Amino acid sequence: MIVTVGNTKGGVGKTTLAVNLAIARALAGRDVWLIDGDRQGTAQTAISIRADAGHLPGIACATYPDGPTLRAQVQQQAAKFDDIIIDAGGRDSTALRAALVLSDVLIVPFQPRSYDVWALNDIAALVDEARSVRDNLRAVAVLNCADPGEHSTDNTEAAAAVADVPQFEYLATPIRRRKSFANAAGAGLSVLELKPADKKASSELNALILELF
Ligand SMILES: Nc1ncnc2c1ncn2[C@@H]1O[C@H](COP(=O)(O)OP(=O)(O)O)[C@@H](O)[C@H]1O
Ligand SMILES: [Mg+2]
Repeated sequence: MIVTVGNTKGGVGKTTLAVNLAIARALAGRDVWLIDGDRQGTAQTAISIRADAGHLPGIACATYPDGPTLRAQVQQQAAKFDDIIIDAGGRDSTALRAALVLSDVLIVPFQPRSYDVWALNDIAALVDEARSVRDNLRAVAVLNCADPGEHSTDNTEAAAAVADVPQFEYLATPIRRRKSFANAAGAGLSVLELKPADKKASSELNALILELF
């Protein structure tokens, strides 16, 4: 399956989620290819740190910030992998547009804050555009850095706001704001690999994966 983690807004947790998803799928025995579509190369850096530290399984990772190159490479290599995870980077880039044409699923992480909710309309327009040239693009919005409290009104309101953006299906499997997500991804690890284990973070990631794959 080809999954793009994308949002035209930066800092919403795209790279953190893409790195976690790629490693989690590899831990489940899948052949995974992580593509960094962001010129900043943060996902690629995380995977290099992972490789230098000798963490297994290793993750195949390439950086293609240029849309036409990303498209050509994915078309040529896709059959070799079970799952391809594309971190499409911020902004309305050619890499993001190319990724939307190739992907089975677009995951849009957003934070329970007004600016993030408004920005969903931005990426919704790109989803419309992609759907005008292809069929069956599943687009899901996922709360990231959700407030840790079980009864946060900010989480509830942000989730409800997705209903106003019909391009997206809301996945009720939020990822909460937890240091372990930031720490793990920075060390090239998934939260599933942390020692000591963070059971809450792991179960949030696993619940999201169950909804997606
Ligand atoms: N669930 C989370 N809990 C805590 N911190 C997070 C979480 N997700 C992302 N972060 C932090 O938020 C910042 C932005 O995340 P990043 O993945 O780089 O976003 P993007 O790729 O969308 O720009 C980073 O410092 C990252 O460590
Ligand atoms: Mg990023």
